[in-house]
Amino acid sequence: MKIAAPAQKEILRRRTFAIISHPDAGKTTLTEKLLYHGGVIHETGEVKGKSGSKAVTSDWMELERQKGISITSSVMTFDYKDLRINLLDTPGHKDFSEDTYRVLMAVDSACMLIDVAKGVEERTKKLYEVCRMRHVPIFTFVNKLDREGKDPLALIDEVEKTLGMQCYPVTWPLGIGQRFRGIYNRITQEVMIYDQRREGDEVRIFPFKGPDDPILFEYLDRESAEQVQGELELIEGALPPFDEKAFLSGEISPVTFGSAKQNFGVNTFLDFFTRFAPAPQARKTQAGPEMDPLDANFSGFVFKIQANMDRRHRDRVAFLRICSGKFERGMKVQHSRLQKELRLAYSNQFVAADRETVDEAYAGDIVGVNDTGNFAIGDCVSSQGKVRFEDIPKFAPELFGKLVVGDAMKRSKMQEALQHLSEEGAIQLFMDPHVGMQDPLIGAVGELQFEVLLHRLQDEYNLDVRLQRLPFTVARWPKTKEGKATDQLKGDFTIYRDMIDQPVILLNQEWDLNWAVRENPDIEFHTSISRAR
Ligand code: G4P
Repeated sequence: MKIAAPAQKEILRRRTFAIISHPDAGKTTLTEKLLYHGGVIHETGEVKGKSGSKAVTSDWMELERQKGISITSSVMTFDYKDLRINLLDTPGHKDFSEDTYRVLMAVDSACMLIDVAKGVEERTKKLYEVCRMRHVPIFTFVNKLDREGKDPLALIDEVEKTLGMQCYPVTWPLGIGQRFRGIYNRITQEVMIYDQRREGDEVRIFPFKGPDDPILFEYLDRESAEQVQGELELIEGALPPFDEKAFLSGEISPVTFGSAKQNFGVNTFLDFFTRFAPAPQARKTQAGPEMDPLDANFSGFVFKIQANMDRRHRDRVAFLRICSGKFERGMKVQHSRLQKELRLAYSNQFVAADRETVDEAYAGDIVGVNDTGNFAIGDCVSSQGKVRFEDIPKFAPELFGKLVVGDAMKRSKMQEALQHLSEEGAIQLFMDPHVGMQDPLIGAVGELQFEVLLHRLQDEYNLDVRLQRLPFTVARWPKTKEGKATDQLKGDFTIYRDMIDQPVILLNQEWDLNWAVRENPDIEFHTSISRAR
């Protein structure tokens, strides 16, 4: 049964997305400008206290500072035109962790942010692959056009070749770096003139009649104008019209150009985004049929758990992506895994770094519910019956270590703690067949996970341990072409086991993986794995 019309309207105006990028591409800067356009902040520099700019103070951030861990807010919500936009943070830099990948399980689209000088970087590629797994539609924003960088055609070619995804330029830059003079919007057939000396957000906009329009020569030097002419002739001639269906299935990415720092091209991106970004999408369930976001049954899943966010309460917050229906504070829900009823009593929505209690939320929204230990990553809740969405996969760790506990008497306590923390998704454990589970290997995607692990072992379990690093950097789950887990590999590999007893190989470097692939042409080496059912 569908939910009542007013709630349907709310759901259909939700747009939930994340920015995927390599550190320093400008994610914070772009986020800030998006929040500025959404009216959440009125002056840039309010979002993050980086390099001395205005810091947002909350208990939560204070705690993170004390721990030496920086996290920004998890979800930023703003209204633009008639839409309610949820921008999910994908932690980067030092705070990169498996959570960053998991966030992408909770979005309906993503914006891939690329530094025009750097092109497709390693982190972007990894995050892109996670989006690709779910066929998430991807917008591309090419940033820092006010700086020297790659030729736009070469950049598009690089994106297409590196990621195997077609690009559709929505805008086209008029020059770059010192010669950057503006952007041509192919949809509205207008040019926006970039003027570094401009005050405020006003930009001059002129209609554009195509590659022969004299305006190119008015604003650009002859050489740049001729280059843009050539580029436009090429893309106008070679490209079919924008194929919305191919975009929605993740095959084509619409590309916009701009400078987040100069707040130029950001609103063009936002206009395009609001026109084409999908509303909350139906989710696959393990039982088979998809869950319609407009269903009257409230349902959602946990994609992230943040421990001890509030020093006074020592609470944990489970971040829930609502998949269908309406959330009401205090509502009773069925916890599918534990098969018990829970009351979702405390909830928060996050605007910039402030926590605000919310009474209502809709499919597409993220709510933070207070957790006293009931939730694990991937848990599902619903107001009626038992709903289970597809599992959140585990992603290949790149950092490995072992724990050395000073007091041998505390060994079993440590094993118990590790077991618990791995179930929570904080780290991954692997069993060495020669050693067994009493001394597991610990895998993490980012350095922060180790920091948090040591802190929590000390803080919550009173365990004083030392981390001994291991040289592995690559983990892969071998499977047959039919998708069956296998430990039958040619070559001298130790087969480790993960927590659900799936075979895994751990390798020192990418080169070893290439060798494994060459030796085992019939085996697929997976970078992520879901629980086999
Ligand atoms: P991140 O969150 O992706 O890591 O990147 P962030 O926004 O922090 O930006 C990284 C650096 O790139 C910052 O410079 C930022 O100002 C700069 N930047 C972002 N967008 C643009 C752009 O469109 N043009 C230019 N020229 N620079 C851009 P910084 O020196 O680290 O900090 P700041 O002193 O400028 O704040």
